[in-house]
Amino acid sequence: MGMTVHIGANKGDIAETILLPGDPLRAKWVAENMLENAVQYNAVRNMFGYTGTYKGNRVSVQGTGMGIPSISIYVTELFKDFDVQTAIRIGTCGGIGKTKLRDVIIGMGASTDSGINRRAMGGLDFAPIANYELLIAAVAAAKAHGISYHVGGIASMDVFYDDSNAFDVLEAHGVLGIEMEASGLYTIAARYGRRALAICTVSDLIRTHEKTSAEERETGFQAMVEVALEAAFA
Ligand code: HPA
Repeated sequence: MGMTVHIGANKGDIAETILLPGDPLRAKWVAENMLENAVQYNAVRNMFGYTGTYKGNRVSVQGTGMGIPSISIYVTELFKDFDVQTAIRIGTCGGIGKTKLRDVIIGMGASTDSGINRRAMGGLDFAPIANYELLIAAVAAAKAHGISYHVGGIASMDVFYDDSNAFDVLEAHGVLGIEMEASGLYTIAARYGRRALAICTVSDLIRTHEKTSAEERETGFQAMVEVALEAAFA
């Protein structure tokens, strides 16, 4: 039996620093390919979580599922009950504006059409932002790896198959990436006084519907995970 409803782990099983892919099979991939001595701590709902080490630093990786409601459940339990201090989303996004396939977007702030943040803030529009230390460390790591990256706005939308004009409005305000989770992560991290960052690779282009291949997604994903791990332990 675990500590919380959605995470079947005991206190101490999860590291202070955690990476958060949306896809639980990506969490498994990170554990098997990027960490040393990884041990699985969660399988509730197949939302796999693992703890291991990276260059000797203790780190966990936990799937979050898709959308702000799903990631909000996991990060609330991680911050509140498991004392996680640093959380980095490693995701994919749809690119708009000047972005190209495989670019990495380091999310400085995360807009949203979700009502969740506004509901929690008594009606005002909070600006969910990244932790500055993590942001500059991720930029340094991306530079060192020679990755094609952007730093800027992302938007966490409630609707994947979106027929509205939301993308036009967001693009007109310089937003670079469309995904579904970062805004929830940033707001909940702010509430608990923890460090958070979202890094996303552009897996598809919103305008042209171009997509990366499965192989490209895996190579791009590995580079992004290295950036995230180096930022976490900088
Ligand atoms: N929209 C929303 N979320 C996404 C996308 C997208 O195009 N690509 C990857 N995550």
